[in-house]
Amino acid sequence: MADPVLLGLSGALRRGSTNSMLLREAARLFGPCSFAEGDLRLPLFDADLQEAEGIPASVQVLADQIAAADAVVISTPEYNKAPSGVLKNALDWVSRTSGKPWANKPVAVMSASSGRAGGERSQAILRLCMVAFQPRLLQGPEVHLADCTNQFDDAGQLKSELYEATLQQLMDKLRAEIGR
Ligand SMILES: Cc1cc2nc3c(=O)[nH]c(=O)nc-3n(C[C@H](O)[C@H](O)[C@H](O)COP(=O)(O)O)c2cc1C
Repeated sequence: MADPVLLGLSGALRRGSTNSMLLREAARLFGPCSFAEGDLRLPLFDADLQEAEGIPASVQVLADQIAAADAVVISTPEYNKAPSGVLKNALDWVSRTSGKPWANKPVAVMSASSGRAGGERSQAILRLCMVAFQPRLLQGPEVHLADCTNQFDDAGQLKSELYEATLQQLMDKLRAEIGR
């Protein structure tokens, strides 16, 4: 049987993003898979744009990636107590596509932020934002990486055994969810 397809979505666009690093660690711990990172560098949602030109190609690519994935893992920073605008914009755009790409999709969410709560609030809000899409959203264990810029070694691996063990549990549950 082919390896499952795992799609990672990072709520931060910057090159050195710790949320993107956390996604790559998630993919490593998930085990054998075909891992791809979605590109959230999309136009800002504008209903006039949609009406004039339809769904932008970059949005459709993302929606198709979500639909084709066996599981999706999302990591968001906390920007002023909420998920990043980049991530919310992507969710809004994908919600305008046809075919309900999130429906019944196994999804794990996590967060990496500088504050002590590790983006716990942004993650909670992200969960709320996704309710309407009806994915199979794992309830935990929760991974919220605090002091995120100091959590990775030079090879990009998590330094904390506790974070790694929690992320391993989450990825084991996500993998198991695919077969259910
Ligand atoms: C506009 C902005 C708002 C932020 N607000 C918060 C916040 O409310 N709580 C927090 O813990 N960190 C906050 N931060 C810090 C981010 O958590 C930190 O920049 C984090 O590294 C972003 O994720 P990244 O490494 O994937 O880019 C904020 C950063 C920015 C740029």
